[in-house]
Amino acid sequence: MSPAARVAGLGTTIFTEMSALAVRTGAINLGQGFPDTDGPASVIEAAVAALRSGENQYAPLPGVPALREAVSEHQRDWYGLEPEDVLITFGATEGIAAALLGLCDPGDEVVVLEPYYDSYAACISFAGAVRRPVTLRPPGFEVTVDALEGAVTSRARVLLLNSPHNPTGRVLGRAELEMIAAACVEHDLICVTDEVYEHLVYDGEHIPIATLPGMAARTLTISSVGKSFSFTGWKIGWCSGPADLVAATRMVKQYLTFAGGTPLQHAAAAALRLPRSDIVALADDLRAKRDQLCSGLRAAGLQPLVPGGTYFVNADVGVDAVDFCRGLPERCGVVAIPTGVFYDDKEAASSLVRFAFCKRPEVIAEAAERLASLRT
Ligand SMILES: Cc1ncc(COP(=O)(O)O)c(C=O)c1O
Repeated sequence: MSPAARVAGLGTTIFTEMSALAVRTGAINLGQGFPDTDGPASVIEAAVAALRSGENQYAPLPGVPALREAVSEHQRDWYGLEPEDVLITFGATEGIAAALLGLCDPGDEVVVLEPYYDSYAACISFAGAVRRPVTLRPPGFEVTVDALEGAVTSRARVLLLNSPHNPTGRVLGRAELEMIAAACVEHDLICVTDEVYEHLVYDGEHIPIATLPGMAARTLTISSVGKSFSFTGWKIGWCSGPADLVAATRMVKQYLTFAGGTPLQHAAAAALRLPRSDIVALADDLRAKRDQLCSGLRAAGLQPLVPGGTYFVNADVGVDAVDFCRGLPERCGVVAIPTGVFYDDKEAASSLVRFAFCKRPEVIAEAAERLASLRT
């Protein structure tokens, strides 16, 4: 029997294919973005304490009060935002899905930066909406007025933003964000912004688009404990913003998963309340890893496009990136992802490859040594 039309084109993700290849060949997996070390020990202890103190049943639908309060405090202390409401989700991924399903009718258009995190296209499709990509091109991956204006039509309903941006590693600057905000205001768009890498910024600063004039009332901000705090397996995320946008998202979330991860929600509250210096230290650690992998890529004769944030670096391999990545595990024992899979426009980055640097220094060193064999 064939699947429903809205899922027929989705297939197996490149991550599944490449991670299986990594296991089969024993290669170092720099494909999928997850750290190979735990996040802060005090946050793990908070999870253990919650598990041991009876926090093991359904959470309330909006999330446990301690975490909802911690999200509000975090938005206020870091960015001066005062969200009207907060909803805890099963990772940012569920927040994105529930927001798109709750805010888009069939035929509505969603303007989205491409390359994009792969769940965006799937969720836009589940909502019966249509994606309108704004193409970011190497080497700079800037948002241009022409690309933005070309993507926004009268049917646009949501602009789905992501900064710091996966897979390019770009941290959007103020001028670009102002241009995007102006388009949202002019066309009366809802902005759904995915800020899961908000604390992984090495150059420049993360500016939440909700802080720009006119944007707080039309922006749903999504983040999670996965990337910024190195707990990707916990899948605790949150949405914050105006009451109507959070309510639309909550309506859907209610019937997707209702509520879960109660003890981990308590621990995520502890993560958000870590001293500022601890959160900055997580980024400092990753900056050193970024620099280590970029040096290794240069030594291997590849040209890294040094990212300002996230834990991904792209490099131009000078040949077809899909072929290059399929052969890389056998050739030198490393797995990476062809950046083109994140684009609708397959020609936009056909020789770019994405490497994750959220690995222990000795693993990056070993990967760099293996990649150096590409020169011979
Ligand atoms: C841009 C972006 N958003 C969301 C996620 C997933 O977030 P979570 O694990 O909190 O669902 C990822 C994971 O790779 C991502 O890159």
